[in-house]
Amino acid sequence: MRKSLVSIDDLTTADIKEIFKYATSFSKNPQSNHLKGKIISLLFFEPSSRTFSSFSAAVKRSGGQTIEYQNPGETSSLKKGETFEDMIKVFGVYSDAIVMRHPVAGSAKVASDVAGTQIINAGDGVGEHPTQALLDGFTIFSKHKKINNLKGLIVGDLKNGRTVHSLLRLFSKFKNNEIWLLSIKGLSMEPTELESYKQKGLKINLIYKETDIPKDLDFWYWTRIQTERLGNKKIKNTFILRNELIHKSAGKRTLFMHPLPRVGEISEEVDSDPRAMYLSEQLKNGVYVRMAIFKWIFK
Ligand code: NCD
Repeated sequence: MRKSLVSIDDLTTADIKEIFKYATSFSKNPQSNHLKGKIISLLFFEPSSRTFSSFSAAVKRSGGQTIEYQNPGETSSLKKGETFEDMIKVFGVYSDAIVMRHPVAGSAKVASDVAGTQIINAGDGVGEHPTQALLDGFTIFSKHKKINNLKGLIVGDLKNGRTVHSLLRLFSKFKNNEIWLLSIKGLSMEPTELESYKQKGLKINLIYKETDIPKDLDFWYWTRIQTERLGNKKIKNTFILRNELIHKSAGKRTLFMHPLPRVGEISEEVDSDPRAMYLSEQLKNGVYVRMAIFKWIFK
């Protein structure tokens, strides 16, 4: 059956567990041939370092090949006036799946409606970033051995950060998760969105000061301010992860996470802490989880 991955809501809890199971095995041996004979297009209309290259690595480690297109808005026939829909149809013919990043929320859904092949959403504007949420969720799962009964903190641009939107969707699929949202002034989550997670059973606490962070949470997930989505508005980042805060409120097993890029929200003094996941486990798991997603899609 044809499966696209546009939103975390395209996945059941069984799908997520299956992806985690495959990712666990790829973490032990990151070499496979489940994409043998397959070509995957990577169409990235927005800047990317990790997502683009980890997808490229994941395809190659799975025995497949890629067509790689960064910045197609400037370098493809779109420049001549071709429509987005036509472009997607064309790459749907050349490849067995399309991984796409685009600045417009909802564009991955549009692509999945017209493409003759699977679409994997690698970030659609302020919308979602489901593969990032899966690698973040997998990082927590592999360290804490569970994806339910978790208590965690999410900090930063909760309004425009698509990784946060997908991550909360993921946590709200599993039982008994409780999240503290610490937001930068003016960048808190829309009340309707908050309500939708609460209705699914996710416990959410809104806090506005670092001193309100409860002790010993399972993870802290920091995000940057999405300045490129703020227009002329200038918002200063007030919450910075430093050793001082860690000494005050973190526990022995609290994981320090960030989807990256960081632009000052985590002090470099934290990098060598064994609980810091952003320059180690999250990066490695990005490849394993993306290998696993392809395995799940083509099963
Ligand atoms: C994130 C994104 O693009 O949404 N980056 C990533 O894919 N690792 C986070 C961000 O840009 O802030």
